[in-house]
Amino acid sequence: MESQAPPRSIVALPGDGIGPEIVAATRRLLGELGRFEFEEHPIGGASIDELGTPLSDDVLESCRRSDAVLLGAVGGPRWDSTDPAAPRPEQGLLGLRKGLDLYANLRPVKPIPALIDASPLRPERIAGTDLLVVRELTGGIYFGAKRRDDDTALDECVYTTAEIERIAETAFDAARRRGAPGRRPRVTSVDKANVLETSRLWREVISAMAESIDDVELDHLLVDNAAMQLVSDPARFDVIVTENMFGDILSDEAAMLTGSLGMLPSASLGDDGPGVFEPVHGSAPDIAGQGVANPLATFLSAAMMLRHGLGETPAAERIETAVERALDDGLRTADLHTGAEGERQVGTEEMTDAVIAAL
Ligand code: NAD
Ligand code: IPM
Ligand code: MN
Repeated sequence: MESQAPPRSIVALPGDGIGPEIVAATRRLLGELGRFEFEEHPIGGASIDELGTPLSDDVLESCRRSDAVLLGAVGGPRWDSTDPAAPRPEQGLLGLRKGLDLYANLRPVKPIPALIDASPLRPERIAGTDLLVVRELTGGIYFGAKRRDDDTALDECVYTTAEIERIAETAFDAARRRGAPGRRPRVTSVDKANVLETSRLWREVISAMAESIDDVELDHLLVDNAAMQLVSDPARFDVIVTENMFGDILSDEAAMLTGSLGMLPSASLGDDGPGVFEPVHGSAPDIAGQGVANPLATFLSAAMMLRHGLGETPAAERIETAVERALDDGLRTADLHTGAEGERQVGTEEMTDAVIAAL
């Protein structure tokens, strides 16, 4: 890395559960790659405990000033409550996404060859899978009005034409950039237009945009059918664009094509300003504190940070190649371990050592 460039500033938000374990591992890895200046702050349950709120204004301001944000995960049974007035860790994450206007969440799903047998799906089903979920991240039912009185609860789902257009634009651009020679890029828009008014607007807006686009193909799928096809014929997909909640659910499902939720990275991006880079999985309270969490989704999220957030593609590729090498050597965290010959079960630290050694 050029010695003259000022160090890039990264805000690390470890969060809860396995968050601190996987973020510490990722900081070690990034420490091998270049000069980064880290600031670390609480978010989620840790922030509720320390500051009384899941995301403080100061922490949001630090994120705004940074070059990129690396996040672990938030949430856990300690803060779970059905009381609408109780602060929730997840509000911290949603506040961060909204506060930085990170409307586009990219979740690439490309199974690593060494892990084909770690997936519960048969190898011949997974063969050829290389898809990208583009999830709308700051609208829909997550951010509509919420109300609870006595025996009635309400979650409003709202989308505007402008919100749909900007996420569709992201999806069409991503499809163009991914375009493999000899194959026309394709966007599959996923909705529930047979039931939901927001989905009917979604479909109308994206179809209208596609009329003036001739280098990307567009098709539409209803979300229930899309969920089915993700496991029956995942290789049919190129870019999937969908609203906030459908994207949340479909991406956890798609993660199993890679063998484990512990493999799936993500990038949350806006039009400008820092992005947030975080694994798709949650705080995994069932394994927290045991040193067994799979750090690879966070390593791959750091690679997305280097590529999309910091413009350091060669460093991103070094991480991705090193992850593949560690897996080729047979190292497996518990979530990936099948017991097959040549595999060795390791914890978070040993996996981190192996990836660093393979850089
Ligand atoms: P989860 O993703 O935390 O865990 C689901 C299952 O996957 C668990 O069995 C867990 O052990 C396993 N798993 C997840 N990540 C793993 C990893 N890196 N290595 C090995 N195994 C891994 O989902 P959950 O249990 O439904 O949610 C737990 C908490 O996490 C909840 O409070 C939820 O709100 C929160 N959550 C946070 C985020 C986030 O911060 N982005 C995402 C999802 C869920
Ligand atoms: C995710 C998570 C979050 C979401 C939760 C923790 C609010 O599941 O990032 O996928 O639903 O967006
Ligand atoms: Mn999720």
